[in-house]
Amino acid sequence: MQKMERPRRVHAANVDGPLIPPFPHSRVPRASPDPWYLCPDLESGGLELKAFMAESDTQSAHEADGEGEATWAGDYDPFSDDGERRSLFAALDSFRQYRRTMHQMVTHRRRQAFYALPSEHWQMLSQPPFSFLDTLNHVDDAIDTNAELADAILALGLESFGLQADPPKDDPLCWHDTATASDVTKASSTIHQFFRDWSAEGAAERAVCYEPVLRDLHTEFQSRRDAGEEIRVLVPGAGLGRLVFETCLAGYSAEGNEISYHQLFASSWVLNHTAGPAAHAVHPFAGKFSNLQSRAQQLRKVMIPDVHPGVAMAKAAETQTPLGSMSMAAADFLVLYMESSNRESFDAVASVFFIDTAPNIIRYIETIYHCLKPGGLWINVGPLLWHVENGRPRADEDEEDTSNGNKDTNQTSPGIGEGGSVELSEDEVLCLVERMGFCIEIRPGNRQPCGYIQDPDSMLQNLYQPSHWVARKIVK
Ligand SMILES: C[S@@+](CC[C@H](N)C(=O)[O-])C[C@H]1O[C@@H](n2cnc3c(N)ncnc32)[C@H](O)[C@@H]1O
Repeated sequence: MQKMERPRRVHAANVDGPLIPPFPHSRVPRASPDPWYLCPDLESGGLELKAFMAESDTQSAHEADGEGEATWAGDYDPFSDDGERRSLFAALDSFRQYRRTMHQMVTHRRRQAFYALPSEHWQMLSQPPFSFLDTLNHVDDAIDTNAELADAILALGLESFGLQADPPKDDPLCWHDTATASDVTKASSTIHQFFRDWSAEGAAERAVCYEPVLRDLHTEFQSRRDAGEEIRVLVPGAGLGRLVFETCLAGYSAEGNEISYHQLFASSWVLNHTAGPAAHAVHPFAGKFSNLQSRAQQLRKVMIPDVHPGVAMAKAAETQTPLGSMSMAAADFLVLYMESSNRESFDAVASVFFIDTAPNIIRYIETIYHCLKPGGLWINVGPLLWHVENGRPRADEDEEDTSNGNKDTNQTSPGIGEGGSVELSEDEVLCLVERMGFCIEIRPGNRQPCGYIQDPDSMLQNLYQPSHWVARKIVK
């Protein structure tokens, strides 16, 4: 067999040097609300969604100055709290490190392992039809495409908080080298999550998870909505914002809530800053080398957003479709929605793939009870993959990370950091919901299977059979 020279891959990303900084990372629950609101700027004729001051006229020191810029409003300063600042910086740094880390973890190591094969073996596999080294080059290209989104999300995050892209190392606001490997995994999952929420190919997952919510909302509220009443819907654990957007488009006032900066930056970007419909490419499965029927499957590209939020809302406004509003509150759900200002303030709560993020489900039920109006509706869709299992955050190596928000279970402050955890079965959860002041009106049945960022062609299908049920807060 002819001897081949090792091809040299020259890549933009520098894969040498430390990838994981020795900076300790911990998470404190968000103890104060940091509401960050988006609203359609339709009156001024713009298609942009933009931020506005929600509750306070006090300008945050870190707000962007530009008019029409999406920004962070509210009187909570994340820089004033050590844990919060670390979380914010680590999320930003994880998007910065995404490109380099992915090249290192996904292709660089595979090249090394490949060249460690007996030379006649790697040489055979370097030739067509295998061309494995070409495959690695294509995967590098796919990583670079994904990294463009990471860069855009990072730029938006930096702008939102008025942070420098390259701060001096001794600057107290230096956020470089603060991300851990787990933070970079979250950045990666967040980018893959665009498949679920904002690609045409993710429609099958959305149909199982979001359509029941919209149907239930219509059944309950359509006539009141059409009569001009404002119907307020809370979407806790809003992820990348698609359900918030769809709820708004359906004519309701949707308030999303998220604790994870990864998710908040990415949803802000996709809701406010994409260049147009299908303007950005993502390769959601490029890093997966197992259970492939073909390489084409691995390198599949999806375009996002399948629907451009600004264009869709302008179109809805033109056609006189009742149009709602949307906002996003960055906070620990347990803290923000237990506040007295949120008492009995929502007509509905729509929890999708959310309740199993609870270490203590009783706290989640109390919070939903507190913020729902008497007679209000709680619509739930999702599995019970408890994110705190056996007292510890669950670690899944092969699955997409569906947790996103970190929890430090050693925290003693209120919110998700409160000590203790328990994992209940579906029948026990329903029993608890009834015991805590709700009447179950629709019980789980006719379960539709769905994945979570699942490659439909993979030889391994991780499928949920989510529990869909509807409960009403009993009027006392
Ligand atoms: C499994 S993801 C589901 C996201 C989205 N609902 C979906 O269906 O794709 C759960 C989300 O809940 C968020 N989350 C977890 N605990 C939270 C809390 N205490 N307050 C607000 N959001 C939380 C996580 O950051 C994550 O984005």
